[in-house]
Amino acid sequence: MKNIDYGRTDGRRDYIFEDAMIRRDICEKLVRLMSESGYKETVTPTAEYFDVFSADPTRSMGDNVYKFTDEHNRLMALRCDCTVPIARIAATKLTDTPLPYRLFYCQNVFSAPKTGNALTESTQCGAELIGTDPENTIEADIEILELAAKSMQALFGMDFRIELGHGKLFTTLAEIYNIDPETSETIRRLIETKNFASIESMKIPKPFKMLPKMFGNADNEDLSALDEFAEETGSEKIREIIDYIKNLIIKLKEKGYGNCLSFDLGLVGRLDYYTGIIFGGFVRGLGHAVLLGGRYDNLTANFGRDLPATGFGITVDDIFDLLKNREDNKQPEQPLRPIRIALTKGRLEKKTIELLEKNGVDCSPLINKGRKLVIPLNDGKFEVMLVKSRDVITYVEHGVCDLGIVGSDTITEYGSSLYELADLGFGKCRMALAGNAKYKNDPENFFGGYSKKVLATKFVHAVERYAAEKKVDVEIVTIEGSVELAPILGLADGIVDIVETGDTLRENGLEIIEEIFPISARIVANVAATKLRKKEIDEMLSGVLKV
Ligand code: PRP
Repeated sequence: MKNIDYGRTDGRRDYIFEDAMIRRDICEKLVRLMSESGYKETVTPTAEYFDVFSADPTRSMGDNVYKFTDEHNRLMALRCDCTVPIARIAATKLTDTPLPYRLFYCQNVFSAPKTGNALTESTQCGAELIGTDPENTIEADIEILELAAKSMQALFGMDFRIELGHGKLFTTLAEIYNIDPETSETIRRLIETKNFASIESMKIPKPFKMLPKMFGNADNEDLSALDEFAEETGSEKIREIIDYIKNLIIKLKEKGYGNCLSFDLGLVGRLDYYTGIIFGGFVRGLGHAVLLGGRYDNLTANFGRDLPATGFGITVDDIFDLLKNREDNKQPEQPLRPIRIALTKGRLEKKTIELLEKNGVDCSPLINKGRKLVIPLNDGKFEVMLVKSRDVITYVEHGVCDLGIVGSDTITEYGSSLYELADLGFGKCRMALAGNAKYKNDPENFFGGYSKKVLATKFVHAVERYAAEKKVDVEIVTIEGSVELAPILGLADGIVDIVETGDTLRENGLEIIEEIFPISARIVANVAATKLRKKEIDEMLSGVLKV
């Protein structure tokens, strides 16, 4: 191939010299710990039949899997997950081996990236405990949680957090209150992103509204909230789940991990897959979980043998990034940096400053910032930076900022893993389809006929979703600014854009054809910061960011 830059490895990595040693050291620490804990190494092929990964309908892996055909024209897949091949082995090859199986792995996984710069090849190290006595589920869960905690300890000392939830809690609640599947999915998504404002505005039973706020530390004060939740539901099944979580916490506290534990009943991702506890491992300096695990009792049955199972996996490359960053910046012994808030420049700026000042913050350092980019406020208790709306999302998702203030249009368009903690009620406008005045409030006519409509926008995801919901076929042209020009110049039939006063549309002879969704300013938070610095974030929300 010509014109290849051999120095670039998009989505893949070269580990060279001391970097390779840091990476190896991480793997060796984990492998040693798992071996010493009685787990046996399992190495599975780099390529499996594609059906191995698509066998489980609860794990939609298809889209991100690298597929190819082998010499017999069979559809193959690069290993995109380590647990599934291990479940295959447990179900098919270990039938003569006495139960339970304690297995660990340290190998690479491959997945086509969802976002531009995600790694397509990464190293996962993890442990699976398969086939324990079904009567003693809790013992197995404690064993695997303790191993997860020890793994984090081997890498970070006691400076980490393991957070516990339960994969059956939400589905049980939906059953009890007879929630239809569509509404249930809407609520689930809002809980997953801790979208307090939207959940609060829904007409749904109180326990669903409580769920996203049900997270806290392992101290008794926070744990008592779990009992209040169980009482509110009045359900025996929910009581059992809550008691199970509490028991796990008590047992792990006895093992000395009390300060490293928290719970979150709002962990509601991948619920079909996890059949019991779910947990994540968080560490200061990384905006997302480095460890993920839980109970998955239905997986081995896909390969013909029904075995209870629980386990976890750690992404070695994430840990490498963190340790390398700490080494480069000599950070480990430094005190925690102040909470950082990314504010949106322009449209929301004035109202944001008004909000801070109303809550007693002297914003003169921000107003007179000159060329300074990071501005300490309230005697350095927190820091703010004014950035473009899309960058608010980037900084918060990566965890370099803990909180952000940004429009819900930007969250809808670019947000993928952050929490939406409050609706600030200002910056109100609408996302709308607009075009020739003859289609004013008449989307049926606009989309009528057989020709595909061309829509200009910078909100590509919003348009894709809108078109899918309306079941119309559209062509999207991406325009970065003054999108109203596109229909005027004849490049598009209509636009999808923000409308605030409507002046821009009016002055250019365009009308709203259909309003798509309302927009307002929101407070967003980094997922890991919400767990690791909960008290400080709560204080910010009830103090300087109080709506
Ligand atoms: C937005 C939007 C419209 C205009 C609508 O642009 O893209 O052009 O505001 O506001 P109105 O209804 O009050 O007239 P913005 O000013 O944010 O700049 P942009 O074109 O660079 O996105």
